[in-house]
Amino acid sequence: MDSKKETQAPRKKRIAVIPGDGIGQEVVPQAVKVMQAAGADVDLTTFDWGADRYLRDQVTVPADGFAMLGRDFDAILVGAFGDPRVKTNIHAKEILLGMRFKMDLYANVRPVRLLDAALCPLKGVEPKDVDFVVLRENTEGVYTDAGGVFKQGTPDEIATQEDINTRKGVERIIRYAFEYCERHTKLDGSPRNRVLMCDKSNAMTHAGSLWQRVFKEVSGEYPQITAQHMYVDALCMQMVRDPRQFDVIVTNNMFGDIITDLAAGLQGGLGMAASGNIHPGKTSMFEPVHGSAPPIAGKNMANPFGAILTAAMMLAHLGMAVEAAKIEAAVLEAVRQKKTTQDIGGPLGTREAGEWVANQVSHT
Ligand code: NAD
Ligand code: IPM
Ligand code: MN
Repeated sequence: MDSKKETQAPRKKRIAVIPGDGIGQEVVPQAVKVMQAAGADVDLTTFDWGADRYLRDQVTVPADGFAMLGRDFDAILVGAFGDPRVKTNIHAKEILLGMRFKMDLYANVRPVRLLDAALCPLKGVEPKDVDFVVLRENTEGVYTDAGGVFKQGTPDEIATQEDINTRKGVERIIRYAFEYCERHTKLDGSPRNRVLMCDKSNAMTHAGSLWQRVFKEVSGEYPQITAQHMYVDALCMQMVRDPRQFDVIVTNNMFGDIITDLAAGLQGGLGMAASGNIHPGKTSMFEPVHGSAPPIAGKNMANPFGAILTAAMMLAHLGMAVEAAKIEAAVLEAVRQKKTTQDIGGPLGTREAGEWVANQVSHT
């Protein structure tokens, strides 16, 4: 009966947690601890997918794994994949790119925010100057593995790597960018109203022409939003020359990968950058931008803030805006008080920095 339905408590959000490899195993527990301290009403299930499991039983993704994630969970929280013992990186490809591609998580949303001027390597740049987002196409481009090798190991060897750009794929990420402006404001409350499409259409003419045509067409439907364009090489220079000029950047899979590491540099390094892999209405996946960082893994040195901010992003996506805001405020306070790991100038270890943020969150 309807009345019974109305009185039922809202179901807890079910989160699949996949710490993965290297520092993923250290930063994800901190993100989980902070979510719990924030009082987020979540039900967590941890999966051991990663290099250790692969080396043990050759399984990267268990049978039916992606269908299970989509069916049984509201969101997925991931650490990182990559292990020097797995030279082919096959497990990372099958798990991480598998989730992105097979679950069709077409929008890789990578916010770029500077929490404190001290974290930015650029002179005279303040937090209000770095507040943009990169929307990276996440299901095609050069990441599809189309291509191959011919006459391998001979002097005549040929290797091809195809850049796949579909009308549907290009259109939906570009449209996502314009709609993103309508759903989000900047941190200071002002509207997001500029979308910049980044490509290399002066050299990659076939794919570039498709991106250019679709961008022109879709931008015409949003006359209140300014449409801009930059070639990716020029954009890299502009990003370090004057990050103030950016608002929403939309680009293909590979350019998005590269420019978001550069953008992480503006935020204090890879340890600070968060991301979401999103398909509206489907189970989406959230992960810090950084990788498994083998040289610092297991040393309690990794910065957990990228993972913690990623958890906040996931909670906001799931409708827990209050908990997300509490977490973001606590990370900001940790940065201001230098309760951080060494990569951003503090004296703490991964666990201690996570603990400080969890404490801060539970007192707000
Ligand atoms: P990386 O992001 O792991 O590390 C790059 C640099 O940033 C290193 O100097 C590292 O020490 C530092 N760094 C990264 N995260 C940090 C953190 N949280 N705190 C402090 N310092 C941090 O990239 P890489 O070295 O190019 O790759 C290592 C492995 O990770 C590779 O196997 C790669 O394929 C994989 N990788 C995975 C993902 C992912 O799973 N999403 C992303 C990037 C790289
Ligand atoms: C990222 C990573 C991945 C990518 C790798 C590990 C395949 O660099 O998430 O940014 O290139 O997308
Ligand atoms: Mn990357």
